[in-house]
Amino acid sequence: MKGNRMSTNSQNENPGDIVTVSIVGCGLMGERHFTSCLQLPGVKISSVIDPRVEKAQALAGGSDAKVFSDVSHALSTEPPDAVVVATPPGFRRKVVEQVVSTGSGVFVEKPIALDMESVRAMCRAIDQTPVVNSAGFHLRYSPLAREAQGLIAGRKVDHVRSVTTTSYYLAQDVPIWYLQRRHSGGPLLEQSIHMIDMARFLVGDISKISAIGRKKQQPGLPNADSEDSMVLSFRFKNGALGSHIDSCSMAEFNWEVQMFGEDWRLQVDFARNRLSGWFEGQSVEKDLSKGDYHLLEMEAFVNAVRQRRQDEILSSFYDAGVTLSTVLAARNSLDADGEWHDVSAGVN
Ligand SMILES: NC(=O)c1ccc[n+]([C@@H]2O[C@H](COP(=O)([O-])OP(=O)(O)OC[C@H]3O[C@@H](n4cnc5c(N)ncnc54)[C@H](O)[C@@H]3O)[C@@H](O)[C@H]2O)c1
Repeated sequence: MKGNRMSTNSQNENPGDIVTVSIVGCGLMGERHFTSCLQLPGVKISSVIDPRVEKAQALAGGSDAKVFSDVSHALSTEPPDAVVVATPPGFRRKVVEQVVSTGSGVFVEKPIALDMESVRAMCRAIDQTPVVNSAGFHLRYSPLAREAQGLIAGRKVDHVRSVTTTSYYLAQDVPIWYLQRRHSGGPLLEQSIHMIDMARFLVGDISKISAIGRKKQQPGLPNADSEDSMVLSFRFKNGALGSHIDSCSMAEFNWEVQMFGEDWRLQVDFARNRLSGWFEGQSVEKDLSKGDYHLLEMEAFVNAVRQRRQDEILSSFYDAGVTLSTVLAARNSLDADGEWHDVSAGVN
């Protein structure tokens, strides 16, 4: 397919076109998105790129994908229709600016960056060359989120309570940079961001936030310099009040958002794919079969690139930038031991 800039035309212009995709960053998520692309009809992986070229070679395996160690070289040799950026978050701004300048659609993993200046730079690049842009909040594509949206539509939300618990930081079952604030942002930007993003997706934007935390397990983890246990309080623009807990010292994985209104409550349990609630005296229990939400988000991305339309994307760079600005306000509050911080209204 030729020319990837977005169209203002509402027609599906090229339904049968092959979409060529490059994967930048060939670690855990690069491999995940590579696997998703292999499953999607009409998608061809044209190149895989990683400065550690042996990782790119391993990912390419026996496929036709070309292997590169340098993004500029790859983009100039064979410009793809779409690029999936799965590097650590501190190494994205330059890559994204290069990709957007070639007119390719761009997907980045979450968190979109570690600072707002990088987000603004990426959004400026997209303003100059409008391309399909998507950020990796895969839970937005889950049937759970869709069902929850339907159940709470038109209802006033009074309170929100969300939870993230993980054990893999403690087990060090992740690359070491996950445990280092300067590289990953720590568990707040790396994990809690999913539930804060979901709270925004379901309830609306957050205007004020406060956070306290501690380094519960720090002595055992000399390379980790981030809080591993946190409590956040926040106020939504629509008046709802929220709280979030994040613990990296619980053996069981939990990802939940619970919402309460005057005569209803709903719990969305992403770890168990279950919705449970109570609406005007009636119980609601729904078990949804586990789907591959990374596959759904990648399908939406390549379809959007094929059709040159942003509509199917549930998390644009601009929106992911607002989620980042929310957790960065929480991080500033953590550093000030719970002082309330305003969340900036947009990415500008
Ligand atoms: N959405 C999710 O559920 C989910 C799950 C896990 C990780 N993530 C996110 O995905 C991102 C990547 O995480 P990961 O676990 O795959 O990390 P990883 O360390 O396994 O892989 C990152 C890869 O990027 C490469 N890299 C570094 N700098 C690069 C550059 N400038 N150009 C190209 N490649 C470069 C590294 O060599 C490495 O191979 C992170 O932002 C992480 O938070 C998202």
